[in-house]
Amino acid sequence: MQTVVVLLLLTALAASVMGNSVRMTVAKQRHTPAQAEAWLAGYKARVSGAAPMRSLAKYNAATGGHPQTVVNYGDELWVANITVGTPAQGPYRVVLDTGSSNLWVPSVFCASAACSTKPRYNATASTTAVADGQPFAVPYGTGFTAGSLVIDTVHVAGLNIKSQKLGQADVMAKFFEDEPLDGILGLAFDEISEPKGVPTPFDNMISQKLLSKDLLQVFLSNDVAPGNTESVFLFGDIDESYVKPGASFFYVNVDFPSYWLIRMTQVTVGSFAHKCAFLGCAAVVDTGTTILAIPSNDAKGVIEAVGTVKSDCSNVDSLPTISLTISGNKLDLAPQYYVLKVQTSNSTECVLGIESIPVEEAGPLWILGDVVLRQYTTVWDRSVSPPRVGFAPANQPPPTF
Ligand SMILES: *[C@@H]1O[C@H](CO)[C@@H](O)[C@H](O)[C@H]1NC(C)=O
Ligand SMILES: *[C@@H]1O[C@H](CO)[C@@H](O)[C@H](O)[C@H]1NC(C)=O
Ligand SMILES: *[C@@H]1O[C@H](CO)[C@@H](O)[C@H](O)[C@H]1NC(C)=O
Repeated sequence: MQTVVVLLLLTALAASVMGNSVRMTVAKQRHTPAQAEAWLAGYKARVSGAAPMRSLAKYNAATGGHPQTVVNYGDELWVANITVGTPAQGPYRVVLDTGSSNLWVPSVFCASAACSTKPRYNATASTTAVADGQPFAVPYGTGFTAGSLVIDTVHVAGLNIKSQKLGQADVMAKFFEDEPLDGILGLAFDEISEPKGVPTPFDNMISQKLLSKDLLQVFLSNDVAPGNTESVFLFGDIDESYVKPGASFFYVNVDFPSYWLIRMTQVTVGSFAHKCAFLGCAAVVDTGTTILAIPSNDAKGVIEAVGTVKSDCSNVDSLPTISLTISGNKLDLAPQYYVLKVQTSNSTECVLGIESIPVEEAGPLWILGDVVLRQYTTVWDRSVSPPRVGFAPANQPPPTF
C-alpha cells in the first residue's frame, strides 16, 4: 500500500540552491484526494484505538526557554496552535517547518475548497494589522499556496512577535484540505523566503530579543495517542532532559544558510556503503517532512540494502541500522524509526519511511525528516556564525512493533 507522506520542504528553490537550472513553479501533488482520504480514515482509526500515553520527561519549566507544544498526528505530521492579530484570531494549526521560510494562514478571502473548513484570518478585524500587499507563492513537496502578505502580531510559544510579515493564503492546494493543518510556519532562513529576504518568525524573535539564547530545540515524541502533548519546539534554551542520559549533542555547521543544509560524507547499511562525492551529500534537516528522502540517483542502493519491510511488521526488528556519517559522527537510524506504522481501519501495516525523490523535483538533496528527528533531539543554533544543527539521541523508548 501507499504510505501517505507529508513533504513540506520548499521545492521552488531546492534546485537553484544546489546550482541546478531546474526551477519548479508549482510542486507536483504527490497524493490523490482518495489517498488523502485514506490517510484521514487511518488517522481516525489510529486515534480511536491508540495505545495509552507513555510517561516521559516533560519540559522543565526551570529553563529560560519558551515551549511550543506540538501534537503528533500519526508520526506523519506535528502541529502547533498559533494565533495572529489583536484581538487574537485562530487558533491556526500550523506545522513548524524547518524546510521552508514563510508563515502563512488561510485568508478570509480564500476561495479554495481547502479553505472552507479552516479558520480564516481577517486583517480588517485586527487592530495591529498593517497592509503590505506583496504577493507570495510557495510550492511545497506536497502542495502549494499563494496570496498576499500582511504585517501583524503573531503569538507563538507564548511570545508576541510584533510586525511579522505573514501570508494570507487566497489559494491552497487540495493537499491541505484533508490534513489537520491550516497553515505553515517556516523556520529556515530568509534566503529562501518568498519573496526572498522576508524575515521569518525565528528571525524576528531574534531581532526583537525575545530569546535569552538564539536557538531552538526540537523534541518529537513517538507518542501518537489522542491528546499527546509531549512533542515540543523549545525556543530560547536547551532542555537536557530530552537527551538520553549519558549522551550529548554533536554539532554540524550550516555553511550556506538557506535550508538547514548540512553535508554527509557517507551512508552505510550493513555492508553496503554509499560514499558521497568530495563535496559531500547535501542534506536538509526538515521537521516538515515525514520520511527520509533520498535523491533518485542515490536511493536505489540504500533502499535495496535495507531490504523488504514486511507489511505485517514481522521483520522490523531484524532490519539493518542505517548509519549517516556527518562531521565524523555517526547518526544511526534504527528500523523502529525508519519503518512507519500505517493504521488502516482494519489493521496496522508497516511501510518503509524512506523514499526516492526525483532529482528534478527537489534538487540532489537528501531530506532528513521526522523519521530521523524522532530518534534525535535537535538544536537549531543561530547564536553562532555559521549557524549549526546539533543532534543528540532523544530520551524516549523506541516505538515497538
Ligand atoms: C488546538 O486548537 C484546537 C481548536 O481550538 C483544539 O481542539 C486543540 O486541542 C488545540 N491543540 C493544542 C495542542 O492546544
Ligand atoms: C472582516 O472584519 C471586518 C471588521 O470586523 C468586518 O467588517 C468584515 O465583515 C470582515 N470580513 C469578512 C469577509 O468576514
Ligand atoms: C477487514 O477485515 C475483515 C475481516 O478480517 C475483512 O473481511 C475485510 O476485507 C477487511 N477490510 C479491509 C478494508 O481490509
